[in-house]
Amino acid sequence: MTGRVVKRIGVVGAGTIGASWAAYFLARGLDVVATDPAPGSRERILEMVHRFWPVLEAMGLDAGASLDRLTITPDGALDLDGVDFVQESGPEREDLKIDLFRRLDAVLPADVVIASSSSGLKISNVQSACAHPERCLIGHPFNPPHIIPLVEVVAGRQTGDAAMQAAIDFYRAIGKHPIRLNKEVTGHVANRLQGAVWREALHLVLTGVASAADVDDAMSYGPGMRWALMGPSLTFHLGGGEGGIGAFLKHLGGPVQSWWDDLGHPDLTPETIALVEAAILEEVAGRSTAELAARRDKFLLGLMRLKAEL
Ligand SMILES: NC(=O)c1ccc[n+]([C@@H]2O[C@H](COP(=O)([O-])OP(=O)(O)OC[C@H]3O[C@@H](n4cnc5c(N)ncnc54)[C@H](O)[C@@H]3O)[C@@H](O)[C@H]2O)c1
Repeated sequence: MTGRVVKRIGVVGAGTIGASWAAYFLARGLDVVATDPAPGSRERILEMVHRFWPVLEAMGLDAGASLDRLTITPDGALDLDGVDFVQESGPEREDLKIDLFRRLDAVLPADVVIASSSSGLKISNVQSACAHPERCLIGHPFNPPHIIPLVEVVAGRQTGDAAMQAAIDFYRAIGKHPIRLNKEVTGHVANRLQGAVWREALHLVLTGVASAADVDDAMSYGPGMRWALMGPSLTFHLGGGEGGIGAFLKHLGGPVQSWWDDLGHPDLTPETIALVEAAILEEVAGRSTAELAARRDKFLLGLMRLKAEL
């Protein structure tokens, strides 16, 4: 399994995430076969990869990279001859993914890794109907996958070590930053981190501590700036000065515990959802999603350059 050189990728399910993956793989000089059963998907996929291309050009294209290397199969046919790796990004429904993986497993040679972009499903369940479950794993990207480097790689009960290593090697070779999870957990690592922070952000808004805009600013002008470089633990190591994390915990461990004890636990009831939506739409203040996404992508590009320089 580890011996396969990846030159041709199957992108199965090409919506928000799959089309973004497709554009990224093309930018790395790979051949891409995309498949999606939705009516009109061909035009939509082409529109999306063309829309993502200027950002990818700005990030730098690999030798041979071209939009002409994209093939889109008609009517979502799993016509994946010659692909060396599959990135599945179909709808987040366990029954659908179990069936899709069963069908992919039936048409692909046994040494082709099948990676699912699933944000939260357990690959142990998704791989359960496959004859070769050892090549199935999670390769969870972060939106938008054509820009954000993180990929969380997770094995299921029947996934083989060789497939895990092949996937990690592949993602690293194409410029992604894979991390390996040692066990399956709902939401993997990064969504749990996001979820924990967002839960508290909403608690602060819902209890009237600050507006949604001010809570977002507290993050993006404060800890978020440091976390883009080194994450919360290494950041607190620096908070301890010369004594490092030991000194930090000795000095501030008590206060940190008192913050933890006071954190909120809002439930997403219909009433809460309505309040959250109203608060966030006030922050959006009529700006379009396209405008906000373009601003985010421009910022991310600068951040990626800075990280590369460092
Ligand atoms: N949106 C995110 O922020 C995000 C981030 C990371 C991972 N993911 C994961 O990526 C996957 C796709 O999410 P999305 O946001 O792109 O959803 P989406 O709805 O935009 O795209 C799903 C695509 O799958 C297609 N599809 C439907 N049935 C299919 C089938 N039987 N076989 C193949 N394709 C089929 C749909 O036509 C659609 O184009 C999900 O597993 C999700 O958890 C999403």
